Amino acid sequence: MSTIPDWITQLDTPYLLIDEAKLKSNISYLKQRVEARGSHLRPHLKTLRTLEAAEYLLSNKDSPATVSTLAEAEAYARAGYTNLLYAVGIAPAKLKRVAALRQQGINLQILLDNMAQVQAVTQFANQFEQDFSVFIEIDSDDHRGGIKPQDPQVVTLAKELGPHFTGLMTHAGGSYACNTATALRAFAEQECNAVRQAEKQLNDAGINSCVTSVGSTPTAHFGEEFSDISEVRAGVYTTFDLVMKNIGVCDFSDIAMSVVTTIIGHNKEKNWLLTDSGWMALSRDRGTASQDNDYAYGQVCKTDGTFLDGLCVNSTSQEHGVIELGDGYHPEDFPVGQQLRILPNHACATAAMHPVYHVLMSDRSHNTWQRIIGW
Ligand SMILES: Cc1ncc(COP(=O)(O)O)c(C=O)c1O
Repeated sequence: MSTIPDWITQLDTPYLLIDEAKLKSNISYLKQRVEARGSHLRPHLKTLRTLEAAEYLLSNKDSPATVSTLAEAEAYARAGYTNLLYAVGIAPAKLKRVAALRQQGINLQILLDNMAQVQAVTQFANQFEQDFSVFIEIDSDDHRGGIKPQDPQVVTLAKELGPHFTGLMTHAGGSYACNTATALRAFAEQECNAVRQAEKQLNDAGINSCVTSVGSTPTAHFGEEFSDISEVRAGVYTTFDLVMKNIGVCDFSDIAMSVVTTIIGHNKEKNWLLTDSGWMALSRDRGTASQDNDYAYGQVCKTDGTFLDGLCVNSTSQEHGVIELGDGYHPEDFPVGQQLRILPNHACATAAMHPVYHVLMSDRSHNTWQRIIGW
């Protein structure tokens, strides 16, 4: 491991640290991978939610991007981005904000999966002479929303949407339960097949213009063929996290996000370290609890990134973390004031706890990025 610049240990903790070199490498790997398999990426901006990260993810202001809130769409639109998919089912009351962005020339696309939403869209469109661009969500794995690919509702909704219909979107969130390359490849194929099947229904019904959008970080990394798919979405691949490591999508060394914390005390009877990073800094996400390797509230590393085998943040309260020292570790090796780095279970959740990120640039200088907050 390389020595670290002084500023890393001089900031007040806890703080979120992003490693720019790893971020860049994660971003370029997936872009090339998807393009080599015949499609293109529509990166999901929701993990880091900063204008700075968007500059790494999008080659120009018209590049396709995905957002998970209208607050993101509005912030990216203000910064000049024009091609945004809001990939959470639309609440009718939010159509006003969607229309306001579309009237500014932003191609903000929306998502839905039921007739009540379709009617809200068409009524708004007719009343205000507003055009929309709408994806129908397809359920490729039974994990959340969407219409099953063989369900005739796909055609019914597309017809009802008329000129507002744009395409079919699915997100194989169920792929997070996989942990072998074979299972991940099969899941990616299942995700693509779902939109292929739904698209065939549309074609048979005479609807021939249909964009297809698939993706999650695991399926984008394991899909073998995307040439008949218009676009692939992924988000958490930018920084990765311990959940993705357990799935087999990345290694520890690819994780570009950590929380820097300070040791504030010891419980010598119990052989515990106490730190100043509780769930307010790490999040309450316990995504690895159901996986083969459980890292509790995060994997502990030295400040230079050296992995401390077997050390996790075992429990948290609001502003305290407890690290139980196992065999081979001694409290005197971890004095009060020493800093550590914690790799997150779920990068999107951990980043959400931090309004500002500190970035270790490739030239080892220090940058700060502001998170876009709210909905
Ligand atoms: C609709 C949609 N597309 C894409 C993604 C990105 O997936 P990942 O977080 O695996 O990168 C998500 C994540 O929640 C999502 O909800």
